[in-house]
Amino acid sequence: MSSFPTVRPRRLRMSGALRRAVAETRLHPSQFVLPVFVVPGEGVRNPIESMPGHAQLSVDQAAILAKEAEAAGIGSIIFFGIPEYKDEVGSSAWDPTGPVPRAIEAVATAAPELVRWADVCLCEYTSHGHCGPLAGEIVDNDSALPLLAQAAVVYAEAGADVVAPSDMMDGRVGVIRAALDEKGRNDTVICSYAVKYASGYYGPFREAAGSVPSFGDRRSHQMDPPNVREAIREAQLDVAEGADLVMVKPAGPYLDVVRAVRERVEVPVAAYQVSGEFAMIEAAAGRGWIDRDRVMLESLTGIVRAGAGIVLTYFALDAARLLEHAE
Ligand code: PBG
Ligand code: ZN
Repeated sequence: MSSFPTVRPRRLRMSGALRRAVAETRLHPSQFVLPVFVVPGEGVRNPIESMPGHAQLSVDQAAILAKEAEAAGIGSIIFFGIPEYKDEVGSSAWDPTGPVPRAIEAVATAAPELVRWADVCLCEYTSHGHCGPLAGEIVDNDSALPLLAQAAVVYAEAGADVVAPSDMMDGRVGVIRAALDEKGRNDTVICSYAVKYASGYYGPFREAAGSVPSFGDRRSHQMDPPNVREAIREAQLDVAEGADLVMVKPAGPYLDVVRAVRERVEVPVAAYQVSGEFAMIEAAAGRGWIDRDRVMLESLTGIVRAGAGIVLTYFALDAARLLEHAE
């Protein structure tokens, strides 16, 4: 077996062109999904303090951002809604005049090349901030299911290409699939947040989306961080119920999970680089401690190298623009 000095791995690293030629992982803007928070009103841009560059946007402003995303070659956009009213069951989630359906309609016209995703959960819409109606202190799984399905149908009818249930109720993918099909929405894609951990990394999101639980936490439905075999089980169950795509979330601290799911299911795998991952990079870069652009691309490369073909990321726009100029 030949070795040094005949073999010198450094040879393939000597120029940018060589490195690009042998790169095993490539990022492309078409993989990115840009998360957007939509609020009622017009001309509204409320900056989100913990997420530099991001703001709660009214529908007209979201449409402007969608055009920029489309021009940068980004593949998809996903909407989260901040509603006009909240109640015990989260009924504003399935209001066809709510922020998410209206944003989807606006983007269908403003940026028709984008794949339109709608997050499906009730925590932005319930008065208590939990992901469904409560039975005592925890979410009542079975009574949440028809409500989630109703919301998914409303988003599909507004023109969502993908509905993405993030609630982690058991059985919701099957119930949503049946409800969509009953309305003739056979072609609406379901991307299940199949593997969503009860994570401290969601902090900035909950400020942005106004979905901080008024008491307790989400540990009775979201996954426990130590588990990876359970992640495969969750993903396989959702595929069996009809999920077209499965998601792992958060991404960076769970790359082993991304890899494990990739190896054990055949559907495309998405990963969500969540708000806390984004905020940590921004915060360190803001202090000059790390090079923002380098770490941004490195963090995304790691997620794709682990096995995610689709990445939801708050860096979508900046990363897409950087990749464009790198060519
Ligand atoms: C709603 C939802 C959450 C995120 C996406 N959908 C928050 C949560 O579960 O509390 C988190 C995304 C992020 O942190 O960027 N269920
Ligand atoms: Zn939720």
